[in-house]
Amino acid sequence: MATKLLLLLLFCLFSIKKALSLQPNISSGSTLYTNSTPNFWPSPSGHFAFGFYPTGNGFKVGIWVVGSPKNTIVWTSRRNDPVISPGAALVFSTDGGLLLLSSTGQVQPVAETTQTASVASMHDSGNFVLYNSSSKIIWASFDSPTDTLLVLQKLVPENMLYSSISETDTSIGNFKLSLHRDGSLYAFPIRSLHDVKYIYWSSFSKSVGRNLTLNLAADSRFYLSSSSGLAVLNLTAGGHLVDGSKVLYRATFDVDGILRLYRHQMGSKGSSNISILWEAITPENRCSVKGICGPNSFCSVDGADLSCLCPPGFEFVDPKQANIGCKLNSTAKNDCFGDKGNANYRMTSLPNTAWESGEYDLLSSVNEEACSENCLEDCNCVVATFWDEMCFKQKLPLRFGRRNGSRPTKALVKITRESLPDDTNVVVNEITKKLGKKLVIVGVVLITLSIFLFLFSGYLIFKYQIWGNRMRIRKSNPPDVVQEINVTSFTYDQLVKATNNFREEIGRGASGKVYKGSLQEMNGGGQEIAVKRLEKMVEERESVFRNEVKIIGRTHHKNLLQLIGFCSEGSNRLLVYEFMKNGSLGDLLFKSRSRPSWNERRRILVEIARGINYLHEECQTRIIHCDIKPHNILMDESGSAKISDFGLSKLLKPDQTKTYTMARGTRGYVAPEWDQSNAPITVKADVYSFGVLLLEIVCCRKNLVLAGPEEEMVLTDWVYKCYLAGELEEVVDETELDLEELEKVVKVGLWCVHTEAARRPSMKSVIMMLEGTVVTQAPPPLSSHVNV
Ligand SMILES: *[C@@H]1O[C@H](CO)[C@@H](O)[C@H](O)[C@H]1NC(C)=O
Ligand SMILES: *[C@@H]1O[C@H](CO)[C@@H](O)[C@H](O)[C@H]1NC(C)=O
Ligand SMILES: *[C@@H]1O[C@H](CO)[C@@H](O)[C@H](O)[C@H]1NC(C)=O
Ligand SMILES: *[C@@H]1O[C@H](CO)[C@@H](O)[C@H](O)[C@H]1NC(C)=O
Ligand SMILES: *[C@@H]1O[C@H](CO)[C@@H](O)[C@H](O)[C@H]1NC(C)=O
Repeated sequence: MATKLLLLLLFCLFSIKKALSLQPNISSGSTLYTNSTPNFWPSPSGHFAFGFYPTGNGFKVGIWVVGSPKNTIVWTSRRNDPVISPGAALVFSTDGGLLLLSSTGQVQPVAETTQTASVASMHDSGNFVLYNSSSKIIWASFDSPTDTLLVLQKLVPENMLYSSISETDTSIGNFKLSLHRDGSLYAFPIRSLHDVKYIYWSSFSKSVGRNLTLNLAADSRFYLSSSSGLAVLNLTAGGHLVDGSKVLYRATFDVDGILRLYRHQMGSKGSSNISILWEAITPENRCSVKGICGPNSFCSVDGADLSCLCPPGFEFVDPKQANIGCKLNSTAKNDCFGDKGNANYRMTSLPNTAWESGEYDLLSSVNEEACSENCLEDCNCVVATFWDEMCFKQKLPLRFGRRNGSRPTKALVKITRESLPDDTNVVVNEITKKLGKKLVIVGVVLITLSIFLFLFSGYLIFKYQIWGNRMRIRKSNPPDVVQEINVTSFTYDQLVKATNNFREEIGRGASGKVYKGSLQEMNGGGQEIAVKRLEKMVEERESVFRNEVKIIGRTHHKNLLQLIGFCSEGSNRLLVYEFMKNGSLGDLLFKSRSRPSWNERRRILVEIARGINYLHEECQTRIIHCDIKPHNILMDESGSAKISDFGLSKLLKPDQTKTYTMARGTRGYVAPEWDQSNAPITVKADVYSFGVLLLEIVCCRKNLVLAGPEEEMVLTDWVYKCYLAGELEEVVDETELDLEELEKVVKVGLWCVHTEAARRPSMKSVIMMLEGTVVTQAPPPLSSHVNV
């Protein structure tokens, strides 16, 4: 209190403004006011000034290079304090303090000194100095650099420069430049302390000596020196020795986290021309500054522009400050962990983009599709970075994202289905393209054999099955038979042998990879098989698995891919199918050069419909396929369609069931009820997928084609439009076609893709309509299915 009164007294005594211009020494008793003119003490040359500079809606106390159009702040006192309100005063008091007196009467020291200062001086070097009565320096602004070093100013070991928040706010920003004892300068984001992991720039001078000092020489040489003063590392060559009254140099650790050396060419009448002499990081690499863009965003440089961008499905935390980061689109439903699982999601890709490598899971030897699909299935996964057959699965927050055109990485981003489709990169459609490609057929020999074996062995074998298995492994006998199913139980060893240790992968999907094999080892027949190795299996008892396999194994229909065997040993769960040489319907429709004839396509349609109808109505346990699409329909040698991969959803982890389905169900084939929480999934979901498939078969085109006219993007919508307009020939690019016949089939498809599950026909009705036993009514409007 006493001091305060004293100060106020002093303040009154010396409140008479002194003429200070170009006066080199400032004697005690001098005072500056925020609103006086001038409100600073200039250096003799007039190039530097100490005093109040305007910022925000007030002032800060600092030093700047005088210039026009604007001054360059090189030092700030108490930079993190709130701005000083107008009405404050800077007092160089007679008792030797340099004090800030706020308009409300609060007093703060600007320079912390232990001795009494008698003279202050704003030097032409930019150093503001306090001297004691014996002309000894007791305080200098050069000793406490903020973000800038001037000529002859040093950064000593274990000291830092902190970047400013922005060009207009000199408070401490996001980056720190630290001169370590080890001899190196390191730049890193301020919130990471000395964590070497986040250093984005270094002088790499560890090897040249410890305890170095950073200096800026008068000739602009920027160098590290040993304690003896010897230059051990030159950051810049220097040699630009010029008249100090015309040219100034400064090194500033800039707002964007990059250390730069600037040259100020002082012109006449106070104008100044600023140029960059050197920068620690080149302009095209500005994105390498860790933290330049906030969490979940990524940095992209385009010429002079650096931008922080949000990945698809994200939005800016603050649209006015892009560098703060991104958050998940708050209006979109993000309920992966809810009961709908991944049903609401799909994957998009961002080429040449990657975030900090901080994966929680890493898959190796995978292709991009498998990577994308795996992330889609996993609720924890937000982004998967794919690179060189490796898949790095990442969670939020994503940090230090960066796009670089020559980078081989690709970010696969999970987004909600409602999110607008981003330009080109919807990858989900492509997922599992390879799945089951060549899966398959028959096994008649084996199955027949199995039936007989079963009849002979009966319950006893089942009862002692485990024991039996082991014996057989040792004896290398033919595989045993599980009661009442025509499905063979293989030992793991047998399948390892049959697939030559899983050598030839012929496909992969959400439920696992598929390998080609041969049964030669076991029955001498050399029958080719496709072995599906299930991943993501429920950790359930073998008996449960067997029970499910039994259900799948009991299905017998000529349009269903027959399961010929399985293996359940330890944690291994494998399914054995006969190998199908002719690939999938997807290949036939979208890849082969000549499209199948109309009659062939009609036949295939009816075959698929019969297969699905069997699953829905005729087998003992009703099976919803959940993943009807061209790539899950395989073609046998005679060109008949066989549905694959049915019944698998039951074998997967409960929380992954829908995920699995969606991952493979693929945008475009999935019934709208999947997108509504709590809507029951019935056989009608398959009817919807079949409807999409029907239109694809009719038009030999994928449902979603993002290239091309917008109205033709979604096949179902386009077909409906053409149907209404009576222009169906538009959608089928074929000349010799019975338009009446075409319309009849298309109508069936349009019924199937109705948004309301209840209004879709059963598969039985579909078959009858396709076969012409019932007349197909005009389909109802599909108004709401526009948002498929
Ligand atoms: C300014 O003050 C310093 C320290 O007391 C002194 O050495 C110097 O000669 C003074 N300069 C002028 C021009 O008075
Ligand atoms: C480190 O350098 C500073 C200044 O260059 C010097 O004062 C100090 O004694 C040195 N310390 C060590 C341990 O060499
Ligand atoms: C740095 O430059 C100075 C001046 O050109 C030179 O004397 C010194 O040897 C250089 N140091 C190194 C390590 O190259
Ligand atoms: C992009 O990445 C490549 C390889 O990682 C690197 O060499 C190059 O400097 C980077 N370019 C830019 C502009 O960031
Ligand atoms: C956020 O989601 C809503 C609804 O899903 C969508 O309309 C909007 O475009 C999305 N916003 C961004 C920035 O992606």
